[in-house]
Amino acid sequence: MKAVILVGGLGTRLRPLTCNTPKPMIPLVNQPFIEWMLLRLRDQGINEVILAVQYLADRFRATLGDGSRLGMKLHVVEEPEPRGTAGAVKNVEHLLDGPTFIFNGDVMTDLDLQAMLAFHRERQSKVTISLTPVEDPTQFGLVEMDTNNHVKRFLEKPRVEDITTNLINAGTYIIEPDVFRYVPPNQFYMFERGLFPVVLQTGDPMYGFPSRAYWTDIGKPQTYIDVHHDILIGKVKYGFRGTEIANRVWLEGDATIHPSAQIVGPVVIGDGTVVERGARIIGPTVLGARCHIGPDASLEGAVLWDDNTIGEAVTLRNSVLGRGNSIGPKTFISDGAIIGDDCSFGPENRLERGIRIWPGTVLGEKAISF
Ligand code: GTP
Repeated sequence: MKAVILVGGLGTRLRPLTCNTPKPMIPLVNQPFIEWMLLRLRDQGINEVILAVQYLADRFRATLGDGSRLGMKLHVVEEPEPRGTAGAVKNVEHLLDGPTFIFNGDVMTDLDLQAMLAFHRERQSKVTISLTPVEDPTQFGLVEMDTNNHVKRFLEKPRVEDITTNLINAGTYIIEPDVFRYVPPNQFYMFERGLFPVVLQTGDPMYGFPSRAYWTDIGKPQTYIDVHHDILIGKVKYGFRGTEIANRVWLEGDATIHPSAQIVGPVVIGDGTVVERGARIIGPTVLGARCHIGPDASLEGAVLWDDNTIGEAVTLRNSVLGRGNSIGPKTFISDGAIIGDDCSFGPENRLERGIRIWPGTVLGEKAISF
């Protein structure tokens, strides 16, 4: 069984984290998200995967190679220009030879793929779309079905009075390769606005597969933080790579933790990280590799990538730090702040309310404070 993962998007909503790192390569609990996804596919019986790449393609090749390290076969195929979601699969059509799973490369889900495949086969479906319920359907594209799960209509961002279902397209499909004859070659073409409406008209069997599996689009700053919290509190199945050294505290190698530091799980600590005296690390929090947490610093709900240096008495809450930042003493970072890579902040800055700081930013003492 083969799968195509769409990884060609720019990830603009997640900037500045995606300025240097393609969205599917950003770490999820210290592991590139795409690597987690590939291992999950392998464990569910999918051994050959095509990555439809457009942006920073070399990063995928350098990290994943031909897939043999992960025990699978991987093709990294680069588009000459962005082809859109369906156009990207058309571009790799020559590699497809049977029903194929197609995944958005920014969706975190523990969907039962074998159950979806059995459903697809039972119905002799040509296109099967995974569906997930949402609380507020007005923000999404809804998928309407008959009692037999046959797709009848797509509704894009409907008004409240037009809502007949709360099921939305969850970004995982199984498609028979002959359906790609409807996709024009060498053009930008999307599933939602292009291929799926065409399949409704041709009458090829198209079914919805509703599921209550965990589902989150990791491509927005707050959902990126939320998905970490959900993994750490156990809302989604996740195999932690480290050793559990205390109640829900996982260590991914060696760390130096001062005896007076307080660590309250769920917390993951990367290899080579140092936590100094009096520091408080309150879960759900992830510390990347080689981070240095200064004395009396207080971290809660934070996601730190590798090589961050956190000064004395810094407060970090519900925020993300990319790679290689240096945060001066008594700086306060909270409320969904997103800091890119290689920033250097002097003492006593205050960064709050979803502020986004671009890679390489240098701030002097109290440069942002109020
Ligand atoms: P934003 O810029 O933040 O909207 O993110 P995005 O560019 O990734 O767009 P979106 O979330 O709508 O894309 C859904 C999935 O399809 C993501 O996994 C993208 O990587 C992928 N994708 C979107 N457009 C293309 C494309 O033109 N080519 C390829 N290969 N993949 C695409």
